[in-house]
Parts: sequence; C-alpha cells; structure tokens
Amino acid sequence: MKHIVDLAKNRGFVFQGSEIYGGLANTWDYGPLGSLLKENLKNLWIREFVQRRPDMVLLDAAILMNPQVWVASGHVGGFSDPLVDCKSCKQRFRADKIIDGLIENHLKDDSSDSYYATRARELWVETLSYDERKNDLLNKQLPIYWINVNNLISESWSAEMQVKFLEEFEVLKEERGVPCPNCGECNWAEIKKFNLMFKTSQGVTEDSSAMVYLRPETAQGIFVDFPNIVRTCRRRIPFGVAQVGKAFRNEITPGNFIFRTREFEQMEIEYFCEPGTDLELHAKWKKDCMNFLQNTLSLNSENLRFRDHDADELSFYSNATTDIEYKFPFGWWELWGIADRTDFDLKAHMTESKQDMSYFDPVKNTKFIPYVIEPSIGLTRLFLATLCDAYDTVPDGEEGGERIVLRLKPEVAPVKIAVLPLVKKLNEKAEEVFHMLSKHFMTWYDETGSIGKRYARFDEIGTPWCVTIDFDNTLEKNMVTIRHRDTAEQETVAIEALVEYFQTALNS
Ligand code: GAP
Repeated sequence: MKHIVDLAKNRGFVFQGSEIYGGLANTWDYGPLGSLLKENLKNLWIREFVQRRPDMVLLDAAILMNPQVWVASGHVGGFSDPLVDCKSCKQRFRADKIIDGLIENHLKDDSSDSYYATRARELWVETLSYDERKNDLLNKQLPIYWINVNNLISESWSAEMQVKFLEEFEVLKEERGVPCPNCGECNWAEIKKFNLMFKTSQGVTEDSSAMVYLRPETAQGIFVDFPNIVRTCRRRIPFGVAQVGKAFRNEITPGNFIFRTREFEQMEIEYFCEPGTDLELHAKWKKDCMNFLQNTLSLNSENLRFRDHDADELSFYSNATTDIEYKFPFGWWELWGIADRTDFDLKAHMTESKQDMSYFDPVKNTKFIPYVIEPSIGLTRLFLATLCDAYDTVPDGEEGGERIVLRLKPEVAPVKIAVLPLVKKLNEKAEEVFHMLSKHFMTWYDETGSIGKRYARFDEIGTPWCVTIDFDNTLEKNMVTIRHRDTAEQETVAIEALVEYFQTALNS
C-alpha cells in the first residue's frame, strides 16, 4: 500500500488536501493524472450503463436537498456509528473497530494464547456451516461477534447484529477488559451514537430552520426525481437512472488512503422494476457489474469476488444484497454493493412528501410502486482498486533494482500517448505530431531527459504508447516509432496512419 500511496503522491495522481497548511485530515486532491483517471472511470461507467443501454438515463441532482428527504430515507434516525471515548487518554473510537482490531491482532499473532486468539483460531479453522457455527456459539453463550469472525468486518453486519454487539461490548469491556488502542487502559465511557451526516446552513441565518445536510449518498436524488423522470423521459418499467456525484459522510475512522474518506464520489444506479421481477434482475445486475470490472476495466478476476449477504445480515426491507469485494493490499473489502431494496425508498418518500410515487403501466393498465435494484459503487474507491490492480514492477539495471509499470487498460490510462522527440532539433516536427494526436487523444509532450528515462516515466504513469520522433524515420520517411508499455516492443508507423492506428487500438 505504501508503494501505491507514494506513486500516487509523487506522480500527480492524488495529493494531500490543503497540504501547504499542514493538510486537513483525510481530504485528498486528485492531481493532473488522478483527475484524468477518475474522469475515464466515470465515462466508461456512463458509456456502459447509460449510453449502451436503451433502458437507462442519467441524472445530476443537487447535493443540498430538503432535510425531509433524509428523514424519509432513514438517515436522520438511523445513519449513525457507535462511538466510545477512552476516559484516560480522551481519544474517541468507533466501538466496533476496536473489537475488529483486537481480533485481527490476535489472529496475526499465532503464539498468543489469550482467550481471544484461542477462540478466534478455533473458529477460523472450523469447517462447520455458518448456521452450525452460529448455533454452537449461541449455545455456548459466546459473544455474538465471533459469529462473524470469518468476515472480520463489523461494518458489514446488519443493524440487529450491531445492536447485539454493542450490548455485548458493554459487558465485555467490564468482564474481560478491552484495552484502548491508544493508551492501553480499560477505562471506557458509555457508547454513544453519532450521526454521520455533515450539517451546514443555507442563506444568511444560522438557525435550525436554515439547516441542511450535505448528501451522504447520491441515491436519494434519484428517488426524489422519480416522478419527474417518468413524466419526461418516456421510459417504461423496467428502466434505471444513473448518477455520479459527491457524497459526504463524517466517518469516524476514515483511512487506508482514499479507501474511506469523508468526501467521496459515488456512481449509483436505481433500476426500477415490477415487484416479483426483482430477484431475477438482481442476479442480472450482479453479472453486469462484475463484467464491467473484469472486462471493461480488465481488473484481475482473482482480486474480485461476490459476497452474498446472509439472511440475518439483510436490512429488513431488502430481498437480496450482494457485495463485490476487491482484494486491496489491506484485505478483502466492499467495492460495489448491489441491493434489492424492494419499494422501501419510494414508499418512504410517498409517506413523507404526500406525493404519488407510483407508476402507471399503460400496457397492463395497473398502478404500482416499483421495486428497485441498487448497484452502488464508490468512484474514488474504484480508483484505488484500479491503481492497486495495475501496479507492477519490472527489473531495472544490473543491481537488482526495479521500476514501476502501471499496467492500466489503455481506455483507463490518464495519458494515452507520449510524444518524445529524440533530440531538441526534432522539436518542431514532434510538436506537429503532438497537435495532430491531441485533437483525438490525451497526449503529453516530453522533450527532456534520456529516451530510456522518458519511457520509464511514462510506464510509471500507465501511458500505453510512446511515439518517438527521430531523424531516420521521421524526417526522412515521415514515420514514427511506437513503443509499447507492456512489452517494450517497438514498431514504425506512418504519421498519416497514426490517428487511425490509435483509434483502432483503443476500440479493440
Ligand atoms: N445508496 C447506497 C449506499 O450508499 P453504501 O454501501 O453506503 O451504500 C456504496 O455505499 C458504495 O460507496 C460502497 O460500496 C463504497 O464503494 C462507496 N463508499 C461508501 N462510503 C464511502 C467512503 N466513506 N469513502 C469512499 N467510498 C465510500
């Protein structure tokens, strides 16, 4: 992970936010290369899920919404994290994360014979089914969180499990002593719930009537605009609405670089369908999402897996939920959530707004509240997965050195082509080639340093092709040399054929 963070910071993918002022915790700026890479991911997603499908439309709703939206969606009442203060060192933690850390540390330490380690190891190697394990554990009255030890991710627990866990944490911290990760003392205050929505005020007054939230997800904009879209877009159910945009959550434990941040971007789809068709469509969306990652972006299939939520992990309104998890350097984590949310959201908005959110089917002459399948992915989290997946090193020099090659798919790469004059005398011709190519592709021009160093610099930022301008080929034959990032092979191509050459390569 450190190598990826270093590359991102040193080559202009991601900078610390407000760096010259010492930064602002967990804020990141997407630099010249990062902003292009992010834009490419977003455009490929729009091309795949909107442009190429007759049943999808795009939306760009406001970040600030009427606060009633968040009452209806359940975010005002339920969107909160369990927090606990250490009374000794005054640090504040997410209670569930303390337990995760505790378990993980003990699991790593094989020599440990503590209660936690012994029990965790036993469970870890058990081959019993989930239900058998669960019954066994419940009968022995062991803490409920061990049930999920094969996930080790309390974030993926259902609300009910979180509540049970919190109750047990209260007992556990008294009985077994859960040490503070900062000072090691066992001196905890009561666990409190902390709402994750950022608040701000609209207009000149700052009283509660002017209070608005920064949206914690883009999805609600789609639900709220559902009647407008039905009225204006002449789409029949099943159809979907896609949206890309910023979301804000006052996460207590942001971290792992851009994996979990307080300001991030989401790409969400709400796919509206007839009740009863939802499970089949959920299965179809699972395939379509995985196909986007494995084929459109060419992420390594060994780093991707489905995780279907167990029945007791599902929200009460959900018929099915699956995560696509990615194997980040710090473990398997959710990348894309694909949820069958039934008619929960539209119904909730209908009750709160008193507006009709139902759909009239002109063929069947029936009116109903559609069900919805929600594939939701973090664009910035996908950015991290893409960087991790493409990161590679190759031997460099004779003393066991190595250099980085970012093996991004050409469509994803921020810079597609680098134009490199071999010597300064060739600059004029090289600039001509640059202007010709940059009308069609993101092209960079670089005239400084040895040609080998320049190739290495462009390999490091994932540029698939370098176009070299030299005396023999270019000035005499009007040809250039194309050097390929992944094979380092070179071929000569006529300048007049270059645009078509790259167009074909990018569409293949
Ligand atoms: N509308 C459903 C929803 O927002 P979620 O599981 O909370 O569901 C969906 O978020 C996706 O958004 C996640 O799978 C993840 O990729 C991304 N995401 C959520 N919180 C994030 C955060 N704090 N930082 C970066 N990405 C985040």
